[in-house]
Amino acid sequence: MIIRAAGDQDWQRIWPFFSRIVAAGETYAYPEALTLETAQPLWMEKSPGQTVVAAQGDLVLGSAKMGPNRPGRGAHVATASFMVNPAHQGQGVGRALGRYAIEWARAAGYHSMQFNAVVETNTGAVSLWRSLGFEILTTVPEAFDHPRHGLVGLHVMYQRL
Ligand SMILES: CC(C)(COP(=O)(O)OP(=O)(O)OC[C@H]1O[C@@H](n2cnc3c(N)ncnc32)[C@H](O)[C@@H]1OP(=O)(O)O)[C@@H](O)C(=O)NCCC(=O)NCCS
Repeated sequence: MIIRAAGDQDWQRIWPFFSRIVAAGETYAYPEALTLETAQPLWMEKSPGQTVVAAQGDLVLGSAKMGPNRPGRGAHVATASFMVNPAHQGQGVGRALGRYAIEWARAAGYHSMQFNAVVETNTGAVSLWRSLGFEILTTVPEAFDHPRHGLVGLHVMYQRL
C-alpha cells in the first residue's frame, strides 16, 4: 500500500465508499443527497490543503483530506478527515493515513491539529486518534443526530505538533 496525492481520476474510486459512509450517517454530517459532482469539491482539497489516497495498484483502499482548519489567523492549525472503504477497514489503512496527515502537517509547519467533530459513538476512530496523540478537549453535547443512537456528542480532538 502506498499513500499518494489524489488526482482528479481518483475521485471516481473514492466516491463509492465516500457515498456509502455518508449514507450510513453514523460518522459525518455532510449535506443530504450529494452526487458524484456535488461531493467532489467537498472532499478533493485544493492547495494549501491536499487529498491523498491509500492505494494498492489501481485499488483505492481509503482517502484523507487535510489542510488549514480556519482561514487567515486560524490557518496555523491543521485539520483532517478520513474515510476507509468498509471492505478494507480494520487492516491498518486508517492508522497509516492518520500518521501521514500528522507528518504532513508537521512538515508543513502547522502548530497543531484539530478534529472538529468526532462522533462520540465512533469509538474505533476515537481510540485510533487517541493512540496517535490526540486528546478530547471537549464534547459538544447532542450535536450529532445519529440514526441509531439519537442525539450524541461531538468531540473536539486536538494535538500540538
Ligand atoms: C475510522 C477509520 C478511518 C479507521 O480506519 P481503519 O482502516 O478501519 O482503522 P485501522 O485498521 O487502521 O485501525 C486502527 C485502530 O483503530 C482502532 N479501531 C478500529 N476499529 C475499531 C473498533 N471497531 N473498535 C475499537 N477500535 C477500533 C483500533 O485502535 C485500531 O488499533 P490497532 O491498529 O492497534 O488494531 C475507518 O474505520 C473509517 O473510515 N470509518 C468510517 C468513517 C470515519 O469514521 N472516519 C473518521 C471520522 S473521525
